[in-house]
Amino acid sequence: MNGLADRRFLVCGAGSGIGEATAHFLAEQGARVVAADLDGDAAARVAQEISSGESFAYDQSDPASVEAFFEAAAGAGPIHGVAIVAGAHPGKIPLQDIDPQLFRRIHDVNALGVLTMLQNATRRLVRDGRSAIVVTSSVAGIRPVAQDAIYASSKAAAQAIVRSAALEYAHEGIRINSVLPGSVITPLAISQSSEAQIHEVAARTLPIGRPSESREIASTIAFLLSDDASSITAIELVVDGGLAATGPQ
Ligand SMILES: NC(=O)c1ccc[n+]([C@@H]2O[C@H](COP(=O)([O-])OP(=O)(O)OC[C@H]3O[C@@H](n4cnc5c(N)ncnc54)[C@H](O)[C@@H]3O)[C@@H](O)[C@H]2O)c1
Repeated sequence: MNGLADRRFLVCGAGSGIGEATAHFLAEQGARVVAADLDGDAAARVAQEISSGESFAYDQSDPASVEAFFEAAAGAGPIHGVAIVAGAHPGKIPLQDIDPQLFRRIHDVNALGVLTMLQNATRRLVRDGRSAIVVTSSVAGIRPVAQDAIYASSKAAAQAIVRSAALEYAHEGIRINSVLPGSVITPLAISQSSEAQIHEVAARTLPIGRPSESREIASTIAFLLSDDASSITAIELVVDGGLAATGPQ
């Protein structure tokens, strides 16, 4: 991919799953990768694996932590792009059982967190007309499933925030896009059910008959960060094995 080598990217949520795969994919393209996560040890492990040596601990649900993270990351070098991958899922919960505190906690990470990450990223990105931000949302934001109101609404909010920010910053040469995965084999997905069940459901419901691999989402994120996507902004790139095209659940 063009325009990744020797440029410095923050991968936020790099300690596991899709974020970890994104850190590896970008590093393989010659990028300088800063691995950041709530789990600072996991971020440090990934940074070591990709020989970047740069890692940070931050909490996406805490605006002060997000600001301190960006200040430290910008102080250590230029920021050419940001992958905002970190997210939380509370599991399936019947509508009547939704606890307002849990709703707020998940929205603090997935919606408010995306807002504050975008505020800081747009302030800190190098203004060379080539910088980009990619937010990992979910196909759940456009195709909710039953008992998923908290997560689905948090991702729909994130997508609306991304679209609005993308239009605001397009004339400043910063591209901002969302990636919407469907079913991806990651620790988060496995914690919600089991690997066997994910494969069984995918075989039944996904047009491609299998879940996505983290690397397949990582390559899409890297593409949107690269110069190969230089005229793409304010889109939602669905990477779901055809699920959304099958219509409502
Ligand atoms: N796995 C799927 O099937 C799937 C599908 C659609 C969308 N997504 C989205 O993809 C993203 C990555 O998910 P994953 O499946 O790789 O999950 P994962 O749990 O494997 O990785 C998520 C990472 O985010 C970090 N994180 C969580 N809360 C954080 C916080 N407050 N601050 C900083 N970091 C935090 C975790 O420590 C973890 O390392 C999420 O936004 C998720 O909603 C996943």
